[in-house]
Amino acid sequence: MIIFDILLLIAAVFIAVSIIYSTVRLGISPMPSSKKAYHAMMHLADETGTGPIIDLGSGWGHFVIRIAKRYPQRQIVGYELSLLPWLTSMLLKKILGLKNLSLHRQDFYNANLTAASVLVCYLFPEAMHKIKNKLLLEQPGVDFLISNNFALPSCQLYKVIHLDDFYKSPIYLYKISKVET
Ligand SMILES: C[S@@+](CC[C@H](N)C(=O)[O-])C[C@H]1O[C@@H](n2cnc3c(N)ncnc32)[C@H](O)[C@@H]1O
Repeated sequence: MIIFDILLLIAAVFIAVSIIYSTVRLGISPMPSSKKAYHAMMHLADETGTGPIIDLGSGWGHFVIRIAKRYPQRQIVGYELSLLPWLTSMLLKKILGLKNLSLHRQDFYNANLTAASVLVCYLFPEAMHKIKNKLLLEQPGVDFLISNNFALPSCQLYKVIHLDDFYKSPIYLYKISKVET
């Protein structure tokens, strides 16, 4: 019994350290978007055609799994650096047999995003600046960006949905061709 308790304690410490480490390193925790946010993001994704969707920081897989089920004909890709969230999403993908979903344990700033039609993210203001610069400098053929809560600086907004929550949280849809220097 003591050995079982010790193993449980080691597992709990490993989980906590792994999540705290990646949160400090990346500047954001793997906290998933809310249910209301997912519905709004999927509603906006309905307006983006049939091209590939990339989630920049796919966390535990909450959004990519929903969207991969919703659009079985669309390619869905997730980039996630945090080990445990990525492992969990890989496990769910395998269990659910989602063939249109690819999950990479990779830094999305170093990823080739040219295949994406739509980028989706729930990050923080500094990351939005970096993403805007990546889009400007590397000019991938991305058509749309959907962002939960954080605006893409200097970009012309195409649509916004305000959630029915305490903060009236915004979910933004941008047309990337409208990115300005
Ligand atoms: C707030 S969570 C959002 C999860 C999911 N997209 C959602 O909306 O539910 C942000 C995720 O981005 C990941 N992340 C942050 N910077 C990253 C980077 N440069 N490369 C890959 N993943 C990153 C974090 O580890 C975290 O899991």
